[in-house]
Amino acid sequence: MRIIAGPTSSGLSRKVAELLHSRIIDVEAKFFPDGESYVRLTAPVRGEEVAVIQTLSRPQDTSTIQLLQLMWAARDYGATKVIAVIPYFAYARQHKRFLEGEAITAVMLARFIQEAGAGAFMTVDAHNIDSMKGFTIPTINIDASPVVSEKLREMKLQGASVVAPDEGALNRARSLASLLDGEALFMRKSRDRVTGKIDIADVDFDVSGKNVVIFDDVISTGGTVAESIKIIRRHNPARIVVACVHALLVGDALDRVLAAGAEEIISTDTLPTIVKTVSVAPLIAEELSRSA
Ligand code: R5P
Repeated sequence: MRIIAGPTSSGLSRKVAELLHSRIIDVEAKFFPDGESYVRLTAPVRGEEVAVIQTLSRPQDTSTIQLLQLMWAARDYGATKVIAVIPYFAYARQHKRFLEGEAITAVMLARFIQEAGAGAFMTVDAHNIDSMKGFTIPTINIDASPVVSEKLREMKLQGASVVAPDEGALNRARSLASLLDGEALFMRKSRDRVTGKIDIADVDFDVSGKNVVIFDDVISTGGTVAESIKIIRRHNPARIVVACVHALLVGDALDRVLAAGAEEIISTDTLPTIVKTVSVAPLIAEELSRSA
């Protein structure tokens, strides 16, 4: 299998290729003066199985078009199979209709990805499993907990209470808690669908004197995690560390979370970020070697 290094995931692609002893196909990417995306594969793919690794980092719309262009080009030049590896699957929050008139963009995007030539789809911790329901090709949703837990163990957080900031994140917290030999807890969060304002209720669990890891899939504005920290701090935990899979960290999100009282934020490398990362490359490589 050959790895096509999408412009948004060139570092991660290299790590995956190294682990698989695969050859990388670099991509020439540029923009026309009016902003249109241009990509070009720099090596032939005829007769090859390829994995296009392209995370949907900001600007998401550009990353998406580049992904579709790369898959289309790979099929057009005779690749026998194209696996779309999208470490951060943007638009997954739009997996259902919350307000009348909305587009279910995750489903639309799944159709586009298939139409562009994907024979299989792989992502890491999709925000909601329903975001993948538009695919009829095989899909794999990789759980990042194993690599996150290794880092947390190094930080002496085995046995920590793993807190999900909302009930939807509880399964993810359970997976991490079981690897840390700790308990999984969740907070009750609601969001105003028009203003986006969140409200998190006080907790009734006991974390006094305990180490707490707040674990979410995405940190975007940092509002959810900062509010969770403020509430948990009132219950006198020993330490509060924040872990996430996809560190979008929009604007002052990092400062906001640290100012709320987090000792540290760790993330995976599904997106480029300035916080400490653990790599999902071994998890992606393992899944690709199974699909080959
Ligand atoms: C929402 O359900 C997600 O799991 C995250 O909690 C949310 O996207 C985080 O957004 P923000 O950092 O802006 O609060």
